[in-house]
Amino acid sequence: MSTVQIDGARFRDRFDAFNEIGATENGGVNRPALSDANRAARDQVVEWFEAADLTVSIDEMGNIFGRREGTQDGPPVLFGSHIDSQYNGGRFDGVVGVLGALEVVEAFNDAGITTDRPLEIAVWSNEEGVRFQPDMLGSGVFCDVFDLEYAYSRTDKDGHTFGDELERIGYKGDRPCEPRELHCYFEMHVEQGPFLEQEGLPLAAVEGVFGFSWMNVSFEGQANHAGPTPMNMRKDAMIGVSDVTRAVRRITATEGTDLVGTVGSVDLWPNAINVIPERAEFTIDLRSYDNSVVETAVQRIQDEIEAAAAREGLAYECEEIMRVDADPFDQGCIETVVEAIESRGYEYTRLVSGAGHDANYLNTICPSSMIFVPSVDGISHRESEFTEWDDILAGTEVLASAVLSKATE
Ligand code: GLV
Ligand code: MN
Ligand code: MN
Repeated sequence: MSTVQIDGARFRDRFDAFNEIGATENGGVNRPALSDANRAARDQVVEWFEAADLTVSIDEMGNIFGRREGTQDGPPVLFGSHIDSQYNGGRFDGVVGVLGALEVVEAFNDAGITTDRPLEIAVWSNEEGVRFQPDMLGSGVFCDVFDLEYAYSRTDKDGHTFGDELERIGYKGDRPCEPRELHCYFEMHVEQGPFLEQEGLPLAAVEGVFGFSWMNVSFEGQANHAGPTPMNMRKDAMIGVSDVTRAVRRITATEGTDLVGTVGSVDLWPNAINVIPERAEFTIDLRSYDNSVVETAVQRIQDEIEAAAAREGLAYECEEIMRVDADPFDQGCIETVVEAIESRGYEYTRLVSGAGHDANYLNTICPSSMIFVPSVDGISHRESEFTEWDDILAGTEVLASAVLSKATE
């Protein structure tokens, strides 16, 4: 397998310059999907793609593609990630995959390599799903999981729709967002969990991604004065939230071995120190690599929501807004990653991802897999997210070798 040289200094300069866009005081970035900072980040990527002689196209979902022709026509080798961030998120999540892909193309340019198959870098819209739910919306439409109108109608907490915001930032492109023939897809990403660091390993070949369920839940009770209202006369929406939050923790301890569950967002009305909460809206995120475990957990949590509402005299609504199945990556692509790691002489393990990734949807339309590099202290979705630069460079070398191998087979 080829061991093309990548230029670590060039990559790092770009990484640092890129992360000045939307930089936060505490060393993170604030570039949620379709924000002004996300637009500036997109503009920067497009400028660098064009400078690297990539032909840029934008599709109807604002997914960005940079294409490099091969000596043959035919389906391209696609690789990339995302550049939208969490609110006050980290600098590495998604960015290493996109700028790493660009560095791979630059390295091929430097070495005068022309591949047989065309290459394309993909930058997917709204991977994070933090401003517009569900997540992985750009790759989801591209892979025919969601239709375009559904995606355009997704609305943030301020009432802005995805479609309007995409237009506002100038990234509603012409290219149809629909499945097309691809030779394969690779994505390099930070692990976002503790395993690689605990094992002292620089790399993982990723075998699949946890399945997951996202739910929006609301409880409706009665506002009243916090002083004179006796405890037995209350209909407190917050009690529903706390009962269900405890139930999520209990269910994760008793259902399957890898089930994780989070109540990550709570809104309360009127949210005042001396008023009994009248309304609560909150989210539940449940994940496991076993789809039947996710299904059972969803059923159990729905029963808990009903029981909590009955105990406190609340009305409730519960909507599952997304279900993604766990689906192992393509064995051939996993082995290509393993061979690429071995050809570079690195140690590695095989891992399943707890975090969601666009590669999961891509794997439904073309053979796909991922490369993980370690996350220091297993921290992600936080400003302090960090990955050692040597590990990012190792991942980029492996990405280069895997892409080259698939582009010449
Ligand atoms: C995406 O970052 C997710 O796993 O929620
Ligand atoms: Mn990510
Ligand atoms: Mn993320």
